[in-house]
Amino acid sequence: MTSLRCLACHTNHSTGEKLYTCPGCQGLLDVAYSLEEMEGERLVALWESRLVSRTDIDRSGVWRFRELLPETATDSIVTLIEGNTQLWDAPRSATYAGLDRLTVKHLGMNPTGSFKDLGMTTGITQARRLGATAVACASTGNTSASMAAYAARAGMKSFVFIPSGQIALGKLSQALDYGSVVLQIEGDFDDAMRLVREVAAETPIYLLNSINPFRLEGQKTMAIEMLQQRSWRLPDRVVVPGGNLGNSSAIAKGFHELLLLGIIDRMPRITIVQAEGSNPLYRMWQAGADLLSPISPASTLATAIKIGNPVSWPKAIRGLSCSHGSVESVSEQEIADAKAVIGSDGIGCEPASAVTLAGIKKLVASGGISPGEDVVAILTGHVLKDPDYTVNYHRGTLHYTPPGGETLTLQSTYANAFIKVSADKEALIDAMGLV
Ligand code: F0G
Repeated sequence: MTSLRCLACHTNHSTGEKLYTCPGCQGLLDVAYSLEEMEGERLVALWESRLVSRTDIDRSGVWRFRELLPETATDSIVTLIEGNTQLWDAPRSATYAGLDRLTVKHLGMNPTGSFKDLGMTTGITQARRLGATAVACASTGNTSASMAAYAARAGMKSFVFIPSGQIALGKLSQALDYGSVVLQIEGDFDDAMRLVREVAAETPIYLLNSINPFRLEGQKTMAIEMLQQRSWRLPDRVVVPGGNLGNSSAIAKGFHELLLLGIIDRMPRITIVQAEGSNPLYRMWQAGADLLSPISPASTLATAIKIGNPVSWPKAIRGLSCSHGSVESVSEQEIADAKAVIGSDGIGCEPASAVTLAGIKKLVASGGISPGEDVVAILTGHVLKDPDYTVNYHRGTLHYTPPGGETLTLQSTYANAFIKVSADKEALIDAMGLV
């Protein structure tokens, strides 16, 4: 039996109801399972057996673990065979951070280039179960790209609310190509988020932001897939970027359910990293406060996480508490350099993902992470999502203007600058520096 349980007042609601928050107290909702009726060992054996299956839902890195997802008729699942993203050794990044070894799990290798696909397959499937014909989200770009693709697959109309001029072009181009109605709002992400919630309350659209608990169910499977890839051996720590705080919450929930099932015997530490100009969780954590104080305006060139009023912060705090986790905050310069170093490993990522490496480096330097720890960094978006940022870094033209401050040009310490050469063989050979 699956239900929707309120985080605040613990009331249970039916998963067949169209709810985003608790109708009684407005608390956040979780999908809750009768885990006591499941056997961990049997589940692991079943999930292992599906690795050689040829059916789409077994090959999906989300639906392979469907015993821990809301019940769904298998023929109504909307999947792009998401997940199955690799774990890679990142030796240059490890050296940069001061670790003996670093593993990255690159969720940017999903069908639309970000981790959002893991949650969108479950979100759109639930939309279909509820009979929705139109879906909507506010987005810094990746949610909109993913929702647009999955809605197109399901034959649903989709509406994306995006902050005007503040999302990376790769993401906007995807939403357009997949046929979403793109509404550019004169405001920031936090305005778009507030407005889409108001619109969802008055119209039949189904809201697919990560406040929707069905999104987080898909995203939590990242934790299960990662363990399966590691032969069920836990890392010491998982490091993840924090924006609206859905993903870190989902990953913690995934590990916690495995703990309750006896599949693992402890939680890995979860470390959330935020950009300095958009770090309300970090400030809350440092202050030991009970409530999050929004930041307005939020600011960072890592536009995916340019969020000042994250909706899922109570879930993020729960995940941090149950995993003895921590929160770090990094500067624009630290993000830009870390991104180039991840690129030098032949991996690459979008700016928001690079906060992980920047945060790990900072924590190793301060003694918060020991060099021998087994750390997995979660990369959330593909390097091609935001080519402007990358090219500007390598050209030495990456500018950042903090709110109310002067424009800075970030240093391009790890730049791989263009070389301008005349159309002449000798000049080329000379420039190539090979002889
Ligand atoms: N990394 C990337 C690439 C993202 O797109 C996001 C969020 C995050 C990290 C942060 O994840 O919000 O779960 O804490 N992007 C959202 C969007 C907000 O609209 O695409 P989070």
